Amino acid sequence: MSIDDQTFGVPPETNGNGKRLAPGRVRIRTEPLPGVIGSPAATESAAEAHFHVAPEAVFEADAVNIFYGSKQALTDVSMRIRRGQVTALIGPSGCGKTTFLRSLNRMNDSIPAFRIEGRIDYHGHDIYGSNVDTVEVRRRIGMVFQKPNPFPKSIYDNVAWAPKNLGMRQAMHERVEKALRGAALWDEVKDRLKDSALGLSGGQQQRLCIARAIAIEPDVLLLDEPASALDPIATGAIEDLIHSLKGRFTICIVTHNMQQAARVADRTAFFSLETRGEKPTGTLIEFDDTEKIFGSPRDPRTRDYVTGRFG
Ligand SMILES: Nc1ncnc2c1ncn2[C@@H]1O[C@H](COP(=O)(O)OP(=O)(O)O)[C@@H](O)[C@H]1O
Ligand SMILES: [Mg+2]
Repeated sequence: MSIDDQTFGVPPETNGNGKRLAPGRVRIRTEPLPGVIGSPAATESAAEAHFHVAPEAVFEADAVNIFYGSKQALTDVSMRIRRGQVTALIGPSGCGKTTFLRSLNRMNDSIPAFRIEGRIDYHGHDIYGSNVDTVEVRRRIGMVFQKPNPFPKSIYDNVAWAPKNLGMRQAMHERVEKALRGAALWDEVKDRLKDSALGLSGGQQQRLCIARAIAIEPDVLLLDEPASALDPIATGAIEDLIHSLKGRFTICIVTHNMQQAARVADRTAFFSLETRGEKPTGTLIEFDDTEKIFGSPRDPRTRDYVTGRFG
């Protein structure tokens, strides 16, 4: 995989070809919509469904099954991810958290054995629909990976790279500054923007990757264990950053760190490996408000996991 598609999901054949991405090609509507009364989805508590106004759904996954060849990685996942919130995906290793996260911006498409059944709507559009432009999908749904992966370029060029490639050339300095401020990195790097990004600490590199992702003003940020390679102080900085980005972006974060989920997420989804038939397969056990998942989960499997009783 090239650094390009690792970071932005821009297929290599489109790199440097801003024309493909002229505004006229935008097909997916993401402008603000009025809030909708939360419908009583299976995963919402009755009180919430009746008395609260839930933010609109950005993603609605319905009966999603994902396979790698003959192996089924996820079975029958249905969930709604709400606008402007932080949603955490937790669960033991191998239960399909990364697989699910990557299916939200079609990042798995490049895996030949990957196959998906069911439906994932993004603002009401089937994201796997035949007319969907995957470049546009990944422009709107940015991704940050477990290991910071800055380009071997200057700090400035890391942030300016995607906007340049997407034809967003106006006011580039302001855009770079805004993204670096947004990623809480500006004060640390403003005097050395021309220096190599590889000279930054791991925590700074990860914030740079977040700056790079937000420089193109996506709608959603997908974060796959963004702090797992970082020390506690850098992890705290990433968590503070997630708090500050919340509301501006819809954030979906995979973490194996339950305290982290409890600290940053509004809603938490617990996945587990369940044996159906012969083989274990990733299953969404419970999805609810974070306090509910950690304080009074409905399912004994969730309770065992969050209290550390899990095998
Ligand atoms: N590219 C792939 N090819 C084949 N199997 C895969 C691939 N990626 C993940 N898997 C399998 O899918 C299952 C779920 O993996 P993953 O989504 O990475 O889980 P998690 O992120 O929860 O640890 C695992 O059994 C894993 O081995
Ligand atoms: Mg993973």
